[in-house]
Amino acid sequence: MSEKRFPEGFLWGGATAANQFEGGWKEGGKGVSVSDVALFKDPKSMEQLLDVHGNTDITDEMIEKALATDDEVYYPKRHGIDFYHHYKEDIALLAGMGFKVYRMSIAWSRIFPRGDEEVPNEEGLQFYDNVFDECLKYGMQPLVTMSHYEPPLAFAMDYNGWYDRRSIDFFVRYVDVITKRYAEKVKLWLTFNEVDSIIRHPFMTGGLIESRFPKEKFMEVMYQAMHHQFVASALAVKITHENIPDSKVGCMLTKLTYYAYTCKPEDVLEQQQRMRSIYCYSDTQVHGEYPRYLLQMYKNKGLNIQMTEEDLEIMKAYPVDFISFSYYSSSCVAKNDEGLDVAAANTVTAIKNPYIPSSDWGWQIDPIGLRISLVDLYDRYRKPLFIVENGLGARDTVEPDGSINDDYRIDYLREHIREMYNAIEEDGVDLMGYTTWAPIDLISNSTNQMSKRYGFIYVDVDDYGNGTYKRSKKKSYDWYKEVIATNGSSILE
Ligand code: BG6
Repeated sequence: MSEKRFPEGFLWGGATAANQFEGGWKEGGKGVSVSDVALFKDPKSMEQLLDVHGNTDITDEMIEKALATDDEVYYPKRHGIDFYHHYKEDIALLAGMGFKVYRMSIAWSRIFPRGDEEVPNEEGLQFYDNVFDECLKYGMQPLVTMSHYEPPLAFAMDYNGWYDRRSIDFFVRYVDVITKRYAEKVKLWLTFNEVDSIIRHPFMTGGLIESRFPKEKFMEVMYQAMHHQFVASALAVKITHENIPDSKVGCMLTKLTYYAYTCKPEDVLEQQQRMRSIYCYSDTQVHGEYPRYLLQMYKNKGLNIQMTEEDLEIMKAYPVDFISFSYYSSSCVAKNDEGLDVAAANTVTAIKNPYIPSSDWGWQIDPIGLRISLVDLYDRYRKPLFIVENGLGARDTVEPDGSINDDYRIDYLREHIREMYNAIEEDGVDLMGYTTWAPIDLISNSTNQMSKRYGFIYVDVDDYGNGTYKRSKKKSYDWYKEVIATNGSSILE
C-alpha cells in the first residue's frame, strides 16, 4: 500500500437530500414541498433527458392536478427511498463504511409546513433529533444543508417563493429554530444547495412559478429572488454563529467547469465570460458583496434589482466560512457553436468535449477538471473548500446471486479522488473533506428517475415505485470503506 495519504482529519463521507430520499411526504405533520409535486415524465430519449427546463418547469394547473392526488408513482419524490422509516438501518449502513461526516438536508416543510408559521412543528424537529442522535452514536458528524430543493409549496403558491421579500423573515425564523435546537449536534452547515440553480430550475430552488410572470420580466424576478437568498444566507451565517459559536457555515455552488473549445481568442473570451457567470454567486457570498461585473450585467440588461443599504451591509458583515460545491463533469464553450455536438452537464447543456468519455446520461467524465476546479476556487477565495457532491449516475445490474458489480463507479470515484489528492499535495489547496453523491440510491433531481443510481448501497425500487425497498451493498461499498479506513492510501500510487 502507498505511503501517501490524505491529511489527518480529512472528512470522508457521502451526501443526500431530504427531497430525494426521505419520503413520508405527509407524515409527522410535514407540509407539501415543491418537490412533492415534481412530475415523473419517464424520459425515453437523450433529447428528453437534456430538456431540464421542460422536465422541471411547472404551472399552477399542474400543481392543482398534483395536489388532487396522493399518487406516488408519478410523483416519486413523495416516496423517495423511504428514509423516513428506514433511517436507523440506513445510518447504520453509512456508518459501516466508516463515514466521518454525513451530509443531509432538513426538509424546511417538515419544520414549517407552510413556511410562514410562527411556531415550528415539534414532530418534525423530533425526527431530525432522532436522525442526528443516530449519526452521532456512530461518531459520524452531520453536515446539514438548510435548504435543498424543498421550499414549502405554500411558500411558492401564496408568496411567489423567494421573489417576495418576506421570504427572508420566514427563512431566518426557520434557521433560528434549527440552529438553536441542534446546537449540540450539528456544527457544520450549508445555507442553500447550489444557490445558482435558481437560474436553471426556478421552481425547485426558488419556488418561482414562471408562467405567473411576464416573459420579459422573468430574468429580473429570478435575480431579485436570488438577492433575497443572498441576504437570507448572510443572516443565516450570523444566526448560526450566534447560536453555535463553534460552528462553520458554508455556501454551496454548482461547480460547472467549461473549457474553450479551441484556442481562438473569441472562444477563450467566451469561456472566461461563462466562468464569471458561474463564479458570480460564490464571489458574492465569499467576498460579501456583488462583483462589479454582475452589477454591470444587471445594468446592461436593464434589470432593476431592489436592494437596500442595509441588505448590502448584512451581506458584507456575514460572509461564509468555507466554500462547498458539487462537481460531476465538464464541457466546452465556443463563440460559434454551430454544428458542434452537445453534451449534458448537471442541468445544463454545452458543447461536447471530444477528448473525454460520457456517462449513460451524457454527463462527460473529467477527473482532471476536478483538480482544475479546486485550484481555481482556492486561488480565487483562499478559504477552505469542501467537495459536497461528486459521483456517477449509472444503471446498475443485480446479478442472479444478488451481487452488483459497479466497477464503473469505482473507476469514476478513484480517479476523482486521486485528482483531489494532487490538488492538495501538489497545488496546495486546503480541502476539508469529500462527500460523494449519493452513498445510497435515491431519486434523481433532474429526471425524477430511480434508475439513475449513484449509491454504494442499492435500493430495490424502480422508476415506477415497484420493489421491496430492500437495501443491499454494491461492490463499491467495501471499496469506499477501504479508502476511508486507509485515509486514501489504498488507491494512491
Ligand atoms: C446536484 C444536486 O446538482 O446534482 C442534487 O444538488 C442532484 O440534488 C445531483 O441529485 C445529481 O443530479 P441528478 O439530476 O442526476 O440527480
